[in-house]
Amino acid sequence: MIDILKYEGKVCVVTGAASGMGEACARTLVELGAEVIGLDVQDVNLPVKESLHLDLLQQSSIDEVVSKLPGKIDRLFNCAGIPGAPRFSALDTMVVNYVGLKHLTEALIPRIPEGGAIASITSVAGMGYQKNLAKVKELLAIDDFSAARDWCEANPDVANGYLFSKAMIIGYTLTRAGQLAPGKIRMNCLSPAPTDTPMMPAFYEAAPQEFMDEHFQAPVGRNATAEEMAEPLILLNSEAARFVSGVNFFVDYGYTGQVFMEERPGLLL
Ligand SMILES: NC(=O)c1ccc[n+]([C@@H]2O[C@H](COP(=O)([O-])OP(=O)(O)OC[C@H]3O[C@@H](n4cnc5c(N)ncnc54)[C@H](O)[C@@H]3O)[C@@H](O)[C@H]2O)c1
Repeated sequence: MIDILKYEGKVCVVTGAASGMGEACARTLVELGAEVIGLDVQDVNLPVKESLHLDLLQQSSIDEVVSKLPGKIDRLFNCAGIPGAPRFSALDTMVVNYVGLKHLTEALIPRIPEGGAIASITSVAGMGYQKNLAKVKELLAIDDFSAARDWCEANPDVANGYLFSKAMIIGYTLTRAGQLAPGKIRMNCLSPAPTDTPMMPAFYEAAPQEFMDEHFQAPVGRNATAEEMAEPLILLNSEAARFVSGVNFFVDYGYTGQVFMEERPGLLL
């Protein structure tokens, strides 16, 4: 039997490892033989090698975690995120989902060796990034955490919370993939359809479940499970995907196909 994923002994950092897709990802990576370091604002209750408290809202917390992480990291999985309104402000959502994710990722890139990879969870909610590409690029060009946060605060019409934060993850991934390729580091993102995790009730607060199901549910007729997102994410960051970079991987059982063929409305910015 051959192992095409090759996670045995790999140092894997997983954000959002306490719950939902990140928890499923970290748990599965442990089972695949990886050395997993779980990061989350909540406690991580998994048999990982190490877990650290991380608050992506605070630059100081990210910097502290970075100072405790090993000098070599084979794979980074950015799974942490918040659902936006009504539970979280647009600004906090921008910071946790994009500004903090980018700050952590950029701090860790120098520790990722050739053959390493980064995979981030974005959302089908970010699919409108091309419609607002000028603004996506404007924010992408700001590297400093506080300056990026200030830009979001000064541009509330654009930096509208969940949708734009997810569009930014796509823009960030597609931009960095080409830049990182000469150093043989890959970067991809994954866009889940609605998935039954502890985050789902928050989306039903923003829009009723019937509306969500009608407009956004995968055409297979049910929400996904956390594992149905974690496993394709693990595939993206694995040796089996060694020539895959700069991809926004839709994991939605045909939903975006219907949107792109104008058979269903899409989540545009
Ligand atoms: N559930 C869905 O339908 C759905 C659909 C598309 C995309 N997503 C995205 O999938 C990812 C995983 O979400 P999930 O559905 O598993 O939800 P979840 O709420 O179960 O998991 C999110 C994790 O992020 C952590 N987190 C939140 N704020 C943080 C912070 N400030 N610092 C560090 N960690 C923090 C939480 O503690 C939690 O463990 C998120 O990025 C989410 O936006 C979810």
